[in-house]
Amino acid sequence: MCEPIYQSSAWSFDSLAQAEAVFSGVAVGIPHRAYGSPNHRLLESLLAELEQAESCVTTAGGMSALAAVFWTLLEPGARVIASHDLFGVTAALLGDMQRWGVTTTYVDATDVGVVADALRQSARLVLIESISNPRMRVPDIERLARLAHDHGALLIVDNTLAGPYHCRPITFGADMVVEAATKALAGHHDVVLGAIAARQEIITPMRSLIERAGLGPGAFDVWLARRGTMSYALRQERASANAAQLADWLAARDAIQAVHYPGRTDHPDHEVARRMLTSGYGSMLSLEIDTSHLDVDTFLAALEHIRLVHSLGGAATSLSHAVTMTHRCAGEDRRRELGLHWGFFRMSVGIESIADVISELERALHDAASTER
Ligand SMILES: Cc1ncc(COP(=O)(O)O)c(C=O)c1O
Repeated sequence: MCEPIYQSSAWSFDSLAQAEAVFSGVAVGIPHRAYGSPNHRLLESLLAELEQAESCVTTAGGMSALAAVFWTLLEPGARVIASHDLFGVTAALLGDMQRWGVTTTYVDATDVGVVADALRQSARLVLIESISNPRMRVPDIERLARLAHDHGALLIVDNTLAGPYHCRPITFGADMVVEAATKALAGHHDVVLGAIAARQEIITPMRSLIERAGLGPGAFDVWLARRGTMSYALRQERASANAAQLADWLAARDAIQAVHYPGRTDHPDHEVARRMLTSGYGSMLSLEIDTSHLDVDTFLAALEHIRLVHSLGGAATSLSHAVTMTHRCAGEDRRRELGLHWGFFRMSVGIESIADVISELERALHDAASTER
């Protein structure tokens, strides 16, 4: 009923013939570490099915999944076209690739014409997020996949904020999906795990790189993530319903300058989101606090259960600050370009009673507004 955890980093062989078969890939087995254990195989086949991909490989985190993608697919001198609205650490990792001569052109991925212009010059990868972090922009994966393929590029989608419950990029033509399964897929803030789902021919060399570089996850993390997937759909159903309600409530508050939620009709990508996202619009939203009327520190201090957290996708509602946290390495110019000011927060909406979340926010907004500025 409940599979055991294969908590072993060393595996014995019955004979040299068996070792030869395993190392040469003829037989299924585990050469070294935990990779390829029954726990890994179970989670990877489950995630491949969820993403509707041929194959999947897990890694020790969302960032190691992206590193494996870049190291496997990018030759020196390669060019990447990336959404200007990526998770800040992903952009920093692309910056690290410059020392191998990899260049990145940042574009507004929600503007297909702009991406088409960028593709006039050859590129190996187009990298987008299905819901961008933290501005919640939703690009048209279907059109971008066609465009990338017409120009000989691969489309990679970081699907972390939407997750496979709300979005399956491969069904829209994307070549590869990256998930930080650390977040809602595992769902309890107790695991760091990544996954890459794609065609077998893409996954096979990536799996070799992950094994060589030691980028794979341990068995216990994989087991915890697999347990998380059993309640994943139920959690997302509740969390996205909560987020939709909360977005409307926040949008009606005077102290909130703007709410970014793809499910709202005032969202600039709402029409695209209706096609790209299913079963609701996700559990993530962003809000902009009017800092001229509300003291951010007092607001945060008045919150009791809603914590300031860099990560997302847990059972409890949490907030993340773009300037000091997710986009601290983006630099001031990029943050200004994206409108990521001091009052900009990303909110990961949890599965609690939404009435409790609203009453806590109401109290905190009231306290912060009555603080003299
Ligand atoms: C969109 C996105 N991709 C990747 C990551 C990195 O994931 P991990 O923390 O598992 O390395 C994050 C983390 O917040 C993220 O938001």
